Amino acid sequence: MHPRLGILVSAALLITSTAACSSGNASSNTATKTTKVMASSNGAAVFSTNCSTCHSSDGKGGIAPPLAGNALVTGDPQKVIHIVKDGLTGAVQVNGKNYNGTMPAWKGILSNADLAGVITYIRSSWGNKASAVTSAQVSSTP
Ligand code: HEC
Repeated sequence: MHPRLGILVSAALLITSTAACSSGNASSNTATKTTKVMASSNGAAVFSTNCSTCHSSDGKGGIAPPLAGNALVTGDPQKVIHIVKDGLTGAVQVNGKNYNGTMPAWKGILSNADLAGVITYIRSSWGNKASAVTSAQVSSTP
């Protein structure tokens, strides 16, 4: 294979595998095609562009666990920041339901300001009531 073609093919595979969690759900697949370039750090907008495909816009989840009424999301901000930055894989139980999927890492894809905005949004939406997260906290959390 021509080396440049190889790069194109692996880029396409990367995009496909990022969207893998939505396989089997036609409407989610369509939503995955929305552009992921966000200039603002408006948490609601960042969420609807990057997270709602898997976690649903009402935060109730689907293939991915719910973020609404999730004690981890409203708990220690460092744990939430770490998961969103580095992604998550393996078995987790949320509100008595088992999940065993993969969430991609968001560091390097979203800016620290957008990460702070979206984490603040999930901690304070759908009845969740937890403290805001700052860009400084995002950058200092591994
Ligand atoms: C490609 C689908 C997908 C996208 C997009 C996605 N997630 Fe996830 N997320 C998951 C899956 C799947 C899990 C559970 C992983 C597991 O089973 O180990 C998860 C887990 C989480 C958790 C931990 C929940 C818990 O109780 O363990 C948080 C917090 C989270 N996601 C936030 C976000 C945020 C914020 C975004 C947007 C920036 C986002 N996710 C985008 C699929 C996704």
